[in-house]
Amino acid sequence: MAGLFISFEGIDGSGKSTQAKLLAKALEEAGHDVVLTREPGGSTGAEEIRSLVLEGDPDRWSAETELLLFTAARRDHLERLINPALAKGKIVITDRFADSTRMYQGTRSGDLRNMVDQLHELVIGREPDLTFLIDMDPDIGLSRAKGRGGTEERFEDFGADLQQKMRTGFLDLAQQYPDRFRVIDGTRDINIVAKDVLRIANEVVNSLKSSA
Ligand code: ADP
Ligand code: TYD
Repeated sequence: MAGLFISFEGIDGSGKSTQAKLLAKALEEAGHDVVLTREPGGSTGAEEIRSLVLEGDPDRWSAETELLLFTAARRDHLERLINPALAKGKIVITDRFADSTRMYQGTRSGDLRNMVDQLHELVIGREPDLTFLIDMDPDIGLSRAKGRGGTEERFEDFGADLQQKMRTGFLDLAQQYPDRFRVIDGTRDINIVAKDVLRIANEVVNSLKSSA
């Protein structure tokens, strides 16, 4: 089978990493070769960039510099981890990818979306085959994310208004790319969400097998 590239997207605290892990485990148990990864990060260089963008003062970077840092991290992640794994026929599951940049950097300050799209074209040029949007009310997501603690709070500090804008923006993106997006109601019990996600992933895996 050719490799399969799956991403999880959604606001902070929506349950992306929980669901990415559960899907990876279920697909591994079914005998697939799975690589579970995340952004920003996923490769050594990109993990170093991660701490630059997620820690410290919220005004630490201009919007443009921040976009370049996230994009540099993604390029490294793609070159070192994602592309080689896909070339070996593996299933790559990433907790966030380029849709997060479209939302967070593309709508945060002025309208950087054009620059986000141009940079993506120029140095990334790859979309996932399947994207799960874990959708939920930002108040629930934010209280879950805050409950986690830790130092990576630059974005969580932007608060509920930003999260609301992100939620709407993600739902718009799902309409813009209906072929790869599946919107999942993340307010339900973890195992019910996981069952939904696995059913959809299996449909895509099976359709790839039958077209191989
Ligand atoms: P994200 O990666 O989207 O920020 P996480 O997977 O880290 O979200 O989940 C945030 C918090 O919410 C974690 O403490 C996690 O255990 C909890 N959580 C995740 N999914 C659910 C769910 N369906 N119901 C209740 N709590 C959840
Ligand atoms: P993440 O670790 O996924 O946080 P969470 O688990 O709380 O969702 O991502 C950290 C933050 O980085 C998150 O607030 C969104 C932000 N981010 C961007 O702004 N642009 C990007 O391209 C990516 C991948 C993440």
